[in-house]
Amino acid sequence: MPETKVLEDVATAAAALRQGAIVAFPTETVYGLGVDATNDEAVRRLFAAKGRPSDNPLIVHVGDFHLWPLAARSLSPSADRLLKAFSPGPITVVVPKAPSISHLVTAGLDTVGVRIPGHQQAQQLLQLANLPIAAPSANRSGAPSCTTWQAVMEDMEGRIDFVLRGDVCDVGLESTVIECTGDTPVVLRAGKVSLQQIQSVFPSAKMFSSKVHQETAALASPGVRHAHYQPRAAVRLFESIDELAVLSVEERRHTAAFALAEPDCSWNPSLLNGFAMAQKFESLEQYGREFYELLRQVDRLGIETIYMQIAPPTDAAAALRDRQLRAAGKIN
Ligand code: TXA
Ligand code: MG
Repeated sequence: MPETKVLEDVATAAAALRQGAIVAFPTETVYGLGVDATNDEAVRRLFAAKGRPSDNPLIVHVGDFHLWPLAARSLSPSADRLLKAFSPGPITVVVPKAPSISHLVTAGLDTVGVRIPGHQQAQQLLQLANLPIAAPSANRSGAPSCTTWQAVMEDMEGRIDFVLRGDVCDVGLESTVIECTGDTPVVLRAGKVSLQQIQSVFPSAKMFSSKVHQETAALASPGVRHAHYQPRAAVRLFESIDELAVLSVEERRHTAAFALAEPDCSWNPSLLNGFAMAQKFESLEQYGREFYELLRQVDRLGIETIYMQIAPPTDAAAALRDRQLRAAGKIN
């Protein structure tokens, strides 16, 4: 078992990546577990460290738009336009893979997810490493993602070589993943860059739907077959805060409650009294940023159940709503 060292120096972290080490690093979305995407042995160690099923491909990160050839064989017109519009930033385009990318990274697919993070330390690290870096979210497989370096240590200490220490992630939810190999870009995973924003650049873009895309569902979006983002606590979703009123004093003592402040502040804050943990979010952005860390906090405190207010079915809230439904086991 490796001893996991916490680093502050990006150059040391980049040198470690070049030598085949597993290095966790911050991005604007969530922390990632980086390895050289051309090094089969390093990639194999990464899948084992995370407990990741080998049929779920990894996103490959590069430090600048001009470095996309490190990861991809070509960019389709849609991939080119979307990357130029939203990168560096929380977006991943799925395009034909470069031959040098390990088949383990892409789980045998001939496509690869390419992302250029818009986070200063991540960009420095990727530019200094000058390699395509495969990086899944830095949690143990199935668990909530990590938005702090301490959460990475909680899940991965003794399983990876280094953690590059950074701040709390700003977005807090993973990147938007868009399949860009055909004529119509298809959003496979909702993220900070919303469908409407994507359609403003590429009007025909669609949201993936397992109903519409039944026969290609497993192929197009391998990650959708596996459970994701689940805390140990049971997750119950509610639409209106009034639904909490029926919970007894006794139930509240073992329960956490997450609620979204109404724009008109119409609800009674005493509805959150008596819970083992209660959190009121002032905005969707705050809810998204703090979501994973709060799931982890609930588990650290041994709380058995979380009642969480589901984000509305709007374009801007799609990523949070998707993660909530997955945390509750409502979709896989
Ligand atoms: O924000 C993010 O994207 C973070 C940070 C670290 O960059 N990374 C991340 O990686 O969330 P991960 O491994 O947790 O999720 C990658 C998702 C999975 O749903 C996977 O199935 C999908 O991207 N994916 C990767 N390569 C793909 C491909 N070639 N075709 C279709 N889906 C792909
Ligand atoms: Mg993940």
